[in-house]
Amino acid sequence: MNIVVFVSGRGSNLKNIINTPELHDLITIKFVVSNVSECGAFEVARQSDIETIVVREGENHNAINYFQLLEIFDKYSIELVVLAGFLKLIPKFFIQHFSGKIINVHPALLPKFGGKGMYGINVHTTVFNSGEKKSGATVHFVNEKYDEGSIILQECVDITKLNSPVEIASEVLKVEHRILPFVIMKFAQNKIEMKNGRVHILD
Ligand code: GRF
Repeated sequence: MNIVVFVSGRGSNLKNIINTPELHDLITIKFVVSNVSECGAFEVARQSDIETIVVREGENHNAINYFQLLEIFDKYSIELVVLAGFLKLIPKFFIQHFSGKIINVHPALLPKFGGKGMYGINVHTTVFNSGEKKSGATVHFVNEKYDEGSIILQECVDITKLNSPVEIASEVLKVEHRILPFVIMKFAQNKIEMKNGRVHILD
């Protein structure tokens, strides 16, 4: 199955997907796409000889736009779009075209602690200050609103003994690195089903 990964930052999730042995026979990462022209994740992509694409943001005319991206993805039969630390909202037409085929990893337990501005350390600071005893990571389908698509998988982290947002981020990242490749594997095996508005992961 051909997939693409969208990134904006350092690329630890991308690296982790690339290094997950269970995925090697199941998926090929055809492209890594970013809204920024240079980021750590692009370096990760280049080290694995994966082609990088900058998608147009404002006046960046060296970048391609979402219509062109869609043509490229269709040409390469892309079956799954993975958002791994991608910070921009994706246009509606693009999401509709890939309906049910775009997933995101979010570093908190949705539906709480999601939405605009809830990324990076902001999420963990909000969780830390909220007095919650748990945080975690969520993999969910993407719809037109930030962090509101159907939840596919979540795993919790006990944060009662953690002393800072940075400590929470580090523990949550470990969870992200477990659940995102797992969901990609299940997707590639056709073992993710939607029934009565709930997502089921089959054995
Ligand atoms: C992760 O915490 C992801 O959940 C969030 O941004 C971070 C990206 O980290 N949306 P990386 O670029 O994969 O290292």
